Amino acid sequence: MTSKASNNNSGNNTWDSKTQTFHGGQEHFFIDNFVEDFSVTTNYLGTPKKALEAARIAMGQIHHYPAANQEPAKSRLAEFLWPKNFAEHHGRLLMGNGASELIDLVVRKALDQARERGIKNPTWKGGPWNVQYQEYQRSAATNGFKILDPSSKERADMICIVNPCNPTGDYLPIEEIKGWLEQNVAPKGTVMVDESMQLWHSADFRADSLINQHEFMLSMLERDQVSVHVMHSWTKIWSCTGLRVGSVICPTAQHCEALKKIQVPWSVNGPALKFVEAVVKDDEYLNKTWENTSRLRAHLISELEKIKGFKQQGWVCHGEPFLSWVWLDVRSDEVATKAVDLARAAGVPVRSGKPGYGCNTFVRIAVREEHQAAILISAWASL
Ligand SMILES: Cc1ncc(COP(=O)(O)O)c(C=O)c1O
Repeated sequence: MTSKASNNNSGNNTWDSKTQTFHGGQEHFFIDNFVEDFSVTTNYLGTPKKALEAARIAMGQIHHYPAANQEPAKSRLAEFLWPKNFAEHHGRLLMGNGASELIDLVVRKALDQARERGIKNPTWKGGPWNVQYQEYQRSAATNGFKILDPSSKERADMICIVNPCNPTGDYLPIEEIKGWLEQNVAPKGTVMVDESMQLWHSADFRADSLINQHEFMLSMLERDQVSVHVMHSWTKIWSCTGLRVGSVICPTAQHCEALKKIQVPWSVNGPALKFVEAVVKDDEYLNKTWENTSRLRAHLISELEKIKGFKQQGWVCHGEPFLSWVWLDVRSDEVATKAVDLARAAGVPVRSGKPGYGCNTFVRIAVREEHQAAILISAWASL
């Protein structure tokens, strides 16, 4: 029996908690009256139509292997990242089966390098926020890094920062993040900065991003032999979590080759490559994203403020105004659990802050269109 009605799973038990890390975005499979997924931080616009069509057409070619060099998609993505001088940096870019695959590759490489230097128990630190997207820590812990607390002052052999931070919505502008990296990584260490959510910043996102900090990356490498990597999950901004597309920018082409050597061949499939080739040309989609996300986010917050409990219980909305979600603290475990249950019952699941993050009084709500937000708000009227 596979129908939604016959399946008694909630999203929380689709994960094997012994071996996997909880993530939003699974409950829609099991909700009979599903309307909209507020549990993932994807773009409110949904999947860009022209790129989706390109991926559909590419399904007709799946009797062929995808391009082993990820071309021409990789060149088009490089052009998107560095419109003026992409050829110069193209060799430093590698695509993967979602950012998740690349996170694990960089961690494995960093571990090898630490062991080659005779470090038996290399250290890992995330931060500086109390919680952040967990895949970095999961991969570091399973590969054998000793995990330091984000508040630790100790320099770590590997540091990873999600900026802007999913789920807290904190953001360090470019000069601050450079300072944090310099102060927290050990000499010869490895850095990963996840800028997947930085893409929402504005049409001028590149100016506040590490993607254009070539001199900083080179100086970290030459001065301290620290390798800085910039990670992007493309599955959120282009709403294609099911397709799996990510990329990493390495400090040099040699670093990129070292990752390629340990990457499974053809990890990015044919339809995903065609999707990328098309989506980077869709200026209209991104312009709409930048024009509307902060307005819709402000609208969501103003509607949340009308809920009785908001003032009475002192709820707080966290996160930068440009982001595609709100990190809401309802100040009570019980209210948070009720909010998650009510949202699910109304077909509009939100992400509980409890599993994985241990933020029991928090829920994460994606920015969606007004009429979709209205369903969530009315489901929460009794809170
Ligand atoms: C900040 C961040 N980075 C990376 C990922 C991994 O994304 P994917 O493997 O879908 O590209 C996620 C997924 O939620 C995320 O939130």
